[in-house]
Amino acid sequence: MKVKAAVVNGVNTNYSFESLNLAELQHDEVRVRIVATGICHSDDALRLGHAGFGFPAVLGHEGAGIVEQVGSSVNHIAKGDHVVLAYAYCSHCNHCLEGIPAACTDWLSLNWGSLRKDGSAFFTKDDGTAVSNFFHQSSFSTYTNVKVSNVIKVEKDLDLRILGPLGCGLMTGVGTIVNGLQAKPGSSIVILGTGAVGLAAMMAAKIAGCSTIIAVDIHDSRLALSKELGATHTINSKNTDVLERVREITNQVGVNYSIDTTGISDVMKLSLDVLAIRGVAAPIAVTNHDLVLNTLNDLVISSKKMIGVLMGATIPQLTIPKMIEFYKNGDFPFDKLIQFYPFEEINQASADSLSGKTIKPVLILDPNYSV
Ligand SMILES: NC(=O)c1ccc[n+]([C@@H]2O[C@H](COP(=O)([O-])OP(=O)(O)OC[C@H]3O[C@@H](n4cnc5c(N)ncnc54)[C@H](O)[C@@H]3O)[C@@H](O)[C@H]2O)c1
Ligand SMILES: [Zn+2]
Ligand SMILES: [Zn+2]
Repeated sequence: MKVKAAVVNGVNTNYSFESLNLAELQHDEVRVRIVATGICHSDDALRLGHAGFGFPAVLGHEGAGIVEQVGSSVNHIAKGDHVVLAYAYCSHCNHCLEGIPAACTDWLSLNWGSLRKDGSAFFTKDDGTAVSNFFHQSSFSTYTNVKVSNVIKVEKDLDLRILGPLGCGLMTGVGTIVNGLQAKPGSSIVILGTGAVGLAAMMAAKIAGCSTIIAVDIHDSRLALSKELGATHTINSKNTDVLERVREITNQVGVNYSIDTTGISDVMKLSLDVLAIRGVAAPIAVTNHDLVLNTLNDLVISSKKMIGVLMGATIPQLTIPKMIEFYKNGDFPFDKLIQFYPFEEINQASADSLSGKTIKPVLILDPNYSV
């Protein structure tokens, strides 16, 4: 079938709208009509060349929509179901079986592999050019084929327009607190960078019972929202020495945990420096910047740890419904981060995200949708 997609044809180019051919559905896939999709910083990281990827591509991996068709072996999802889309996993490798599908041995090929495992393309141009898929999802398209593991069914009385970002940025922030750092009640944390991922982590830290939550950013507007959403302290690193201030707040002890969402070398280093003895840092940005460490001084002497956490180490089918419950009871007001844009304004939405004006842009693909 024909779809309208926002295509990136090369590194550092804008999105351009094209009519593409969507492949026939395979047996373990689900065809979804996208109602709305978030733009994640990772989409722009790829577009701007901060991580290698094959172009042309249809990016987008925070989609929400309505099931149009299911493959022959899919029996728990049906046409008409409302769904949120997250990452894909194989369901049968050791890590998937152990309940950590974000560590799926096929994760990279399924989510960053561009083509299906059998080598076929999800999207093609009329001249036959294969167009790369992202996250087995490519939600910057009116229709898309996803793997059944991408799909999380949600209640029909929820507003699909706000739910897409739960599938990546928000789930990553929450999972980094709950699964990655396993933050304990009464503990302290510094969150470096309060975009969508950092703010989700911050709300989760509050829910987890962290008693000192220090938010750091370079935008006062984001720090003001951090305060509203649960930060006990905020620091603008443009005009304050972060390390000095964290030491002051913690009586010179440092914090139990830190998260870096900026991907800037000096800030990632800072995420270790702010830690107390035996503290744990989670640098989770998609970045092409390196971090230089002296293992003795930066880790060993103070028994510190640095951990990688992919997609918050979540099981999306379990985590997303929980996030929705916390949203409903008022503890996870993630809708405050969202700004809607028509699909056609994707380049403006992306620019506003990169400039810091918008925290979480959401593109509306179906302007006629209503709850
Ligand atoms: N690990 C994963 O699985 C995973 C999943 C999703 C997203 N990500 C990545 O997480 C990162 C954060 O995503 P996001 O959507 O929140 O992005 P974002 O750009 O909205 O957030 C980054 C924040 O860092 C702030 N910042 C920039 N420079 C700073 C500095 N010097 N000091 C303090 N703050 C500074 C920005 O103002 C912004 O608020 C991105 O790199 C994204 O690609 C990782
Ligand atoms: Zn993402
Ligand atoms: Zn697996």
